[in-house]
Amino acid sequence: MIAIASDHGGFALKQEIITYLTDKKLEFKDLGCYDEASVDYPEYARLVAQSVLSNEAKCGILICGTGIGISIAANKIKGIRCAVCTDCFTARATREHNDSNILALGGRVVGGGLALQIVEEFLNTPFSNDQRHINRIAKIE
Ligand code: RB5
Repeated sequence: MIAIASDHGGFALKQEIITYLTDKKLEFKDLGCYDEASVDYPEYARLVAQSVLSNEAKCGILICGTGIGISIAANKIKGIRCAVCTDCFTARATREHNDSNILALGGRVVGGGLALQIVEEFLNTPFSNDQRHINRIAKIE
């Protein structure tokens, strides 16, 4: 299961990603927000982080206007490795090297077409399991 949430700045892109996940028959849980009324992104970062850390979700997707605020909030939570991605290369690299467990996107930064490619790359790339990356992640923790 994939946990997904956004603030108002990421709401429209979240809906596009939900349509994609539905079309691909990928199980997900939409943790809000549910309209474009102004909300505080740290609340949504926490909901997705909790879902990932409890192993309810295998990974998460967070979206705010830039992807930055919501990723900063998520990365304050121990065990979360959240990467803001604006291209497919970093989405792939952060899975292979950082074993990132949450993808962050900026709804005001990337268009829907690119965002869906980034999501696909993130979801389909496994962690490399290279010892050097395992050691570095252990040092973060
Ligand atoms: C909300 O206006 C905006 O600040 C938020 O979505 C995000 O971009 C913060 O980093």
